[in-house]
This record gives sequence, structure tokens and C-alpha cells, in this order.
Amino acid sequence: MTTTDPRPTGGNLPLARTLGLDLRRVPRHVACVMDGNGRWAQLRGLSRSDGHAAGEQALLETVYAADDIGIGWLTVYAFSTENWKRPVGEVRFLMRLNEMILLRNIDELDERNIRVRFTGRSDRRVPPRLRREIERATERTAGNTGMTLTFAFNYGGRAELIDAMKRMADDGVRAKDIDEKAVRSYLYHPDMPDPDLVVRTSGEYRISNFLLWELAYSELVFTDVLWPDFDADELYRAVLAFQTRDRRFGKVSTIVPEPVLAAR
Ligand code: FPP
Repeated sequence: MTTTDPRPTGGNLPLARTLGLDLRRVPRHVACVMDGNGRWAQLRGLSRSDGHAAGEQALLETVYAADDIGIGWLTVYAFSTENWKRPVGEVRFLMRLNEMILLRNIDELDERNIRVRFTGRSDRRVPPRLRREIERATERTAGNTGMTLTFAFNYGGRAELIDAMKRMADDGVRAKDIDEKAVRSYLYHPDMPDPDLVVRTSGEYRISNFLLWELAYSELVFTDVLWPDFDADELYRAVLAFQTRDRRFGKVSTIVPEPVLAAR
């Protein structure tokens, strides 16, 4: 598949239907913690970088599978504010990989009307070439009206809240004016809806500083699958799990239990 030969939109729909997904109730926003590349590589006697490289295919498959079933927002955790603590060679590889992901895939993403965005702190440690590609991809796809694909890059939930608080203080926001709406307006992307579903791969049960404000009422799905093995099938199984959940947002359930229905 080349960039001039984009895969057909809706290519994963038969799979979604076979699995029994309710296409009228897909989550509006799915966020993924792409974890397990290193362990995937280790199991194969490969380097951690090989594992990250293998993660690119899983990322793209997930993006197109999400788009195919009408998920409007997909956010992927690509590099955290804490990931600078990894070995310098791995950090360098991840910077280059993110640049290459943009270079290799921007035509197809644009062709599919996907809006590409980045969320996180700008940082002088990010190589200029990557910064340039981030800017290019963001600008080129800014007017697209399909799915919004957000890369959380040099992102930390605490950093986002600290940055919001600093800007509120700079703007002289008064204590009496601080409420949820005000705080949200100072987040990196106030227009981004909160994730309905968060998927973390590789059998780890942590949030790891991802979207701390935004995840308040998200449904969480954890899977043992390592990120390079994640695919359309795995995404749709996570969405199926989401569709069984009773989201109450602090209220009482509006779902009428089966026995009550049967008794009527
Ligand atoms: C959080 O776990 C996970 C992330 C911040 C994602 C990191 C992802 C990558 C480095 C690979 C991205 C893949 C592609 C294809 C671009 P953590 O390991 O940072 O936190 P933890 O120590 O709490 O597990």
C-alpha cells in the first residue's frame, strides 16, 4: 500500500458487524495507552526500538479501524513528560519514529479527511525536524472534518493542569470564577470531548499521567495484548466491552434490569 493508494474507507466494517458491534453506540472519543512495545520485542530477541517500530503498524490499523466505525476522536499516548527518563538512544529513536510516522502517513491521513493534532508541552529537547513535521501535519489537516487524531506527545496530565493553573494565574482569574468550565477552557485543547473509553494494552493497570482531568468519567479497558499485536479486532472488542458498561456519571442507573422487564 502506498500513500497514493489509500485503503478504502469502511474496510473494517464487516469485521465490526461480525463481532456484533452496535454502530449507533460507538464511543465518541477513544484514548489509547500504547504499551508493551519493549516486551513484544524482548519476547522475539529484538531491541526495544524494533518493538516501537512494530508499534507503528498497530497504530495505523487502530486509526483506520476507529475511523471506519465512526469514532470521531482518537487520542494516542505517544510520549509522556516522564519518558525523557528512558535511555537516551531510545528517546532519540522515538523522536525519529514520530517524525517518520508523520512523513510516511500524512498523505493517507489527509486523504481520509483526518485532522491531526498534538497535545502536550512544547519543549526545546524535541528535535527541530520533528517540530517542523508536527507543525506541517497540524496545519495541513487543520481544515479536515473527519476524525480528529491527537498524538499526546511530551504530554503529562499533571503538566497540563500545572500549565492551565499558571495561565489562569497570569490572566488574573479570580477564585470565585474558577469552576469546571473555567478550568476546561485552560486545558491544551478545550474543544476536545472527554474520552468515553480508554484502552491500555500489555496487562498494566495504570493511567500513567494520561489525561488526568479528561478521564474523570471514562470507561477503562485493559488488555493483555502487547501494543504491536493490537489491531482492528482488539479495538472492536474494547468497544464491545464499552457497550456493556452502565455509565452513570454519579446518578442512578437508567438501565432497567432484565428481571424487571420480564415481570412486566
Ligand atoms: C505510559 O506508560 C505509556 C506511554 C506514555 C506510551 C509510550 C509509548 C511509546 C513510547 C511508544 C509509542 C509508539 C508509537 C508507535 C509511536 P509508561 O511506560 O510511560 O509509564 P509507566 O512507567 O507507568 O508504565
